[in-house]
Amino acid sequence: MFMRHLTGLYQVPAQTLHEILHAASVFKPSLLQSPPKLFSTLAGKTVVNLFFENSTRTRTSFELAERRLGASSVNFAAAQSSTSKGESLLDTVANIEAMQVDAYVIRHPHAGAAELLTKHTQKPVINAGDGQHEHPTQALLDIFTLQETFEKLSGLRVLILGDILHSRVARSNIFGLQTLGAKVSLCAPPTLLPREIHRLGVTVFTDIREAIRNCDAVNVLRIQLEREAGGFIPSLSEYHRFYGLTEEAVAVASKKIFILHPGPINREIEISSSVADRFGSDAQEMPQAKSESLILRQVTNGVAVRMAVLHLLLSSSPLPSPN
Ligand code: CP
Repeated sequence: MFMRHLTGLYQVPAQTLHEILHAASVFKPSLLQSPPKLFSTLAGKTVVNLFFENSTRTRTSFELAERRLGASSVNFAAAQSSTSKGESLLDTVANIEAMQVDAYVIRHPHAGAAELLTKHTQKPVINAGDGQHEHPTQALLDIFTLQETFEKLSGLRVLILGDILHSRVARSNIFGLQTLGAKVSLCAPPTLLPREIHRLGVTVFTDIREAIRNCDAVNVLRIQLEREAGGFIPSLSEYHRFYGLTEEAVAVASKKIFILHPGPINREIEISSSVADRFGSDAQEMPQAKSESLILRQVTNGVAVRMAVLHLLLSSSPLPSPN
């Protein structure tokens, strides 16, 4: 039986991760058709997207995934809701549940919010990012993109670069990638590394050139200024100089490396525009280029991965035929 909720990738078994990645590969071709193919495996279901924090990619892709599987989507934006009058998360959900819904996608600024919800509903809960804790579907789409690019995850050397301290994306990626046999390293200024990070079995660098030299892919993280990350570095321009993924930094790679970023991007802070925007065809026209960006491919894959997760959690039908 598939899991009941998806609140994180910590201790999720490899078999479950493979099941999600396989389902995403079934749904991916439908996204490349024009118009995208629609399915009906969630016909009659209603999914509520509870967003207590801003989002562009996650919210839009969940909504598209729900609609393309035939579900109805209800979008709850905290700023326009009775949360602003003091209603609690649990009261909000109890009231929405009284209207007969089938699942929740929740983004919340507080770590543990998705897990808390699972204790107060019988419906499946999907964590769309909770504070600095986990963002499992982001990591799954990152991992799916790496698997599409490299075919094999076992032994793949993935560097996570940037504001690790405040990052739920880093934590979910570390858990998922390690379960699937990838070798994860981290690079950040010492002030942006969690104190106990070595216990997670990762290699830690503070020198970007050393970190990049022998990796296959770099997942670049945003400096989370809304979580006060600016107070942990001398200045944004110095951060860019020492930890930004620039042409000079990628030039030290021993072979071409692939670049991911969960978005939104702070251009010319954690990544240079020229590195972020060099996609497949541009990179092929520049054989000397040391990097290729997968950033927009990640966004496309986000819809496939969220279709996979929603289908596996909510549908009793088998996976549809991809054609
Ligand atoms: N990667 C990500 O979570 O982006 P959004 O905040 O736009 O959803």
